[in-house]
Amino acid sequence: MTDTTSYNARAIDTAQRLMAMRRATARDRSGVPLDDLLPARDKAALGVQREYERMGGQPVSDRLAAAAERLGASLEHLGLTLGTVIHGVDLAAPTDDLVAFVRAALLERKVVFFRDQHLSEAEQVAFGRRFGELDAFPFGRPGDDPFILEIAHGPGSPGYENGWHTDVTWMEEPSLGSIAQLVEGPAVGGDTLFADSHAAYLGLPVALRERVDGLHGVNDYRIFLADRGEAAFDPEVVAEVKDAIPFGVTHPIVRTHPETGKQALYLHGGFLRHESLHDPVTGEHLPEEESRELVRQLLAQHTRPEYQCRFRWEIGSVAFWDNRAVQHYASSDYYPERRVLRRVTVRGDRPFHRPEAG
Ligand code: SIN
Repeated sequence: MTDTTSYNARAIDTAQRLMAMRRATARDRSGVPLDDLLPARDKAALGVQREYERMGGQPVSDRLAAAAERLGASLEHLGLTLGTVIHGVDLAAPTDDLVAFVRAALLERKVVFFRDQHLSEAEQVAFGRRFGELDAFPFGRPGDDPFILEIAHGPGSPGYENGWHTDVTWMEEPSLGSIAQLVEGPAVGGDTLFADSHAAYLGLPVALRERVDGLHGVNDYRIFLADRGEAAFDPEVVAEVKDAIPFGVTHPIVRTHPETGKQALYLHGGFLRHESLHDPVTGEHLPEEESRELVRQLLAQHTRPEYQCRFRWEIGSVAFWDNRAVQHYASSDYYPERRVLRRVTVRGDRPFHRPEAG
């Protein structure tokens, strides 16, 4: 008998004996709450389950499904609680019904996708404006239209949007949502991943959730400028920006969604000062070490695959994500191929935390 054979004989015998013992003492655990079945250190499955239950145990409401049918649209879900490709609609000619449907779908699915749109800049801007005012972006490359942000990478410029984040948290009224279209892309790679900030919140251990509820952090775009090397920007312009646009903006790290009332983790690891957590009601400023540790734990939440879906772009694909409900991460795995994304950003409102909301 070879070693492998003797190992396998022992493994098979052990498995059979253990299973026989388990059958003898088995009790039906299917009715036990999931929380009690999971170890305290890992409640990821619980976050997904709670969020899905809150969604009525179905990916979209009956009302949204009926609206899709009326529009002749079909829905392809990429994740249980987030991410749906909406097929069969034309964003270049958005009717009022289509806009209302996309808005409702965004609230239910948090991020929605469309294929084969090939919008011109003007069409993309016009589509974005159907959802609110747009915000221009001061630190990136504008398109021909100043409300277009062109996120372009290729030789000499690897992608750097590969950190979990929600857009422009340094603004006093950060974005409601971002609408991006791929106009040039690599043969393989360059996917964008999205993570459900509501499920991520619900999956926190109770003690951690209670500790971070109500805490605020300071968001500061100067961290971003320093990260990019301020030298990359004209110093005069940088100085003017620092005079004109407020930095050090305080936002709750658990944010109540203004339309759905759900709580979401709300933090951008690149803009947030990790040592800045504080409670504006009690005036408590956390010791630096505790603040950094809490930020580390919260940032780790979105990295769990349980909360994520992944979108494989094609030229002309469009993604519309709700910055109040998801985080995103652009996979930087295509260097030195070119990848060019055009984005518009729909204006949001001031984040708040209302604990009783849900
Ligand atoms: C972004 O972070 O807004 C860019 C997303 C992407 O490049 O896929």
